[in-house]
Amino acid sequence: MLSRAILAASRNDTVKAVVANAPVSRSVVKRFVAGEKAEDAVAATRALIDAGLTVSLDHLGEDTLDVGQADATVKAYLVLLQRLGEAGLAADGRAEVSVKLTAVGQSIDRSMAVDNARRICEAARNAGTTVTLDMEDHTTTDATLEAVRTLRMDFPDTGAVLQAYLHRTEADCRDLAHAGSRVRLCKGAYKEPESVAYQSDSDVDRSYVRCLKVLMAGDGYPMVATHDPRLVAIADRLADPRPQGSYEYQMLYGIRPGEQRRLAAAGETVRVYVPYGDEWYGYLMRRLAERPANITFFLRALATTS
Ligand code: FDA
Repeated sequence: MLSRAILAASRNDTVKAVVANAPVSRSVVKRFVAGEKAEDAVAATRALIDAGLTVSLDHLGEDTLDVGQADATVKAYLVLLQRLGEAGLAADGRAEVSVKLTAVGQSIDRSMAVDNARRICEAARNAGTTVTLDMEDHTTTDATLEAVRTLRMDFPDTGAVLQAYLHRTEADCRDLAHAGSRVRLCKGAYKEPESVAYQSDSDVDRSYVRCLKVLMAGDGYPMVATHDPRLVAIADRLADPRPQGSYEYQMLYGIRPGEQRRLAAAGETVRVYVPYGDEWYGYLMRRLAERPANITFFLRALATTS
């Protein structure tokens, strides 16, 4: 009900104009989105790297059915990677990029989307960095993991994302916990049916811990993407005896910035996921609509900097 109301409101042009221009929402947006242009993304990246953090940049936009739009998204990534390279921010993977396959054409033609992702991987390699393929709703999981396997033949450092709320994920972790394999583990952001996903917070958390155990005990490079203090503490224990730098923490731009800096000051690698681009409105509204918990998630972030 609430989700439907938010989505209906998000499609209304008057609501959009009011939300986009109200001073309070501009400051809310600034908190979670780096800006609309590549130079805004580069500036936010520089500030985070100067603060001892690393970055993954996401050009906003997803689920296009338009070949021209998919191509424009690829070009936006190419421009961004070139600028990051010129600014010396991409070297050693300090700033990498995250890509949604549906933003580069997965819903139009899978092989076109993989070719588009390959163009981004090539630009990332030229800039000295890597690409991680974001994970979307469960109907795309197999195709996205297949794309990761294909891209890794030429770009072995391509990152995969697994979502702990899916029943299948512990098995996927076992498949992907091999040497050289970069795997981001998150809880999962989409509204998924009971047939494929755990529904209660405690079941999702328990699955996250089981998955993390597999990844931390394996030979790959786990990327622990959560703001949950209990899971961060458990990750810290499970990481022992791994050396710092053989795994990393990841959090979203604007969420728990104090914790991001605390972990970095303790010697951990912390990567901040930074969305940018002019599709910020849809991004925020969809995140709010997908899971009612996301509303609390953003409101909590506004109330705290720790
Ligand atoms: P959750 O939102 O359940 O919060 C758990 C606890 O964390 C709270 O109870 C509270 O204690 C604490 N907390 C959270 N926010 C706080 C705040 N602002 N201040 C203080 N405490 C706070 N999803 C997906 O489906 N595909 C993807 O590719 C990605 N990619 C991705 C990358 C990165 C880097 C991150 C961090 C996340 C994603 N996600 C994602 C989103 C992810 O699946 C999930 O929806 C959100 O991260 C929220 O889940 P949390 O694990 O943070 O816990």
